[in-house]
Amino acid sequence: MNAPAQELPLFYQPSGNEVTLFGEAAAQGMPVLIKGPTGCGKTRFVQHMAQRLGRPLYTVACHDDLSAADLVGRHLIGSDGTWWQDGPLTRAVREGGICYLDEVVEARQDTVVVLHPLADDRRELFIERTGESLVAPPGFMLVVSYNPGYQNLLKGMKPSTRQRFVALRFDYPAAEVEAGIIAREANVDMELAQRLAQLGVALRRLGRQELEEVCSTRLLVLTARLIHAGLAPREACRAGLAEPLSDDEGTVAALMDLVDVHFA
Ligand SMILES: Nc1ncnc2c1ncn2[C@@H]1O[C@H](COP(=O)(O)OP(=O)(O)OP(=O)(O)O)[C@@H](O)[C@H]1O
Ligand SMILES: [Mg+2]
Repeated sequence: MNAPAQELPLFYQPSGNEVTLFGEAAAQGMPVLIKGPTGCGKTRFVQHMAQRLGRPLYTVACHDDLSAADLVGRHLIGSDGTWWQDGPLTRAVREGGICYLDEVVEARQDTVVVLHPLADDRRELFIERTGESLVAPPGFMLVVSYNPGYQNLLKGMKPSTRQRFVALRFDYPAAEVEAGIIAREANVDMELAQRLAQLGVALRRLGRQELEEVCSTRLLVLTARLIHAGLAPREACRAGLAEPLSDDEGTVAALMDLVDVHFA
């Protein structure tokens, strides 16, 4: 769960029309689905938009044990007897905030179906345990995200769930844009940021065949921060890029060869 909106929205560098699209979906109360690889800015984008729109944000990391009660709420037992505690979804509905379900494909179908009446024209949440029915105020918005690369064939969202959302596809930004993000996020100069962004391009070219998941913007930012903190670039690239990307020593060596080309 996240803190309420701050004054200045967290930095987010757009790559396309996602800010306008999300704003329009928010204005019309449409749910949004964001798909994209790890560390490409999905979470940052949602945080940024929530702050920009001045709406509270409730984030839920989904997993296969997540139950409808984890989202909606449950009765708890205290010294004064039992009392009802709202879950993050219910809280977002009551407050007219954004409920963001991260890695939604990890959640079981029977959990996801509680979203259905909220994610269509009804905009309604029925709390079975208390018999309460809530109609979502205009500010309420449902946002889900997942990484299509991780999906196993048995998982994925049911068409009846998917087809309630407006969908945005994210990917790693173009090198120039990514350099700007690295410079800003790690507080490094553009020359270093551009060099790391170029290394990112080269690593991704190699990585699509060799690695489970290619180098993310997140890793490039972390590496830049290590260099900014005083680590030698080569060591920063080993700890921040090569080792996180692979366990295989041969692959790490191949990645380090590319590092050497860029930080000769
Ligand atoms: N467009 C962007 N603007 C600003 N920062 C960005 C952007 N894209 C990536 N970043 C940086 O990369 C980091 C990782 O991004 P984020 O956590 O949003 O990735 P994600 O897509 O949610 O990944 P995951 O699927 O692993 O949760 C951010 O903390 C930020 O430093
Ligand atoms: Mg995320």
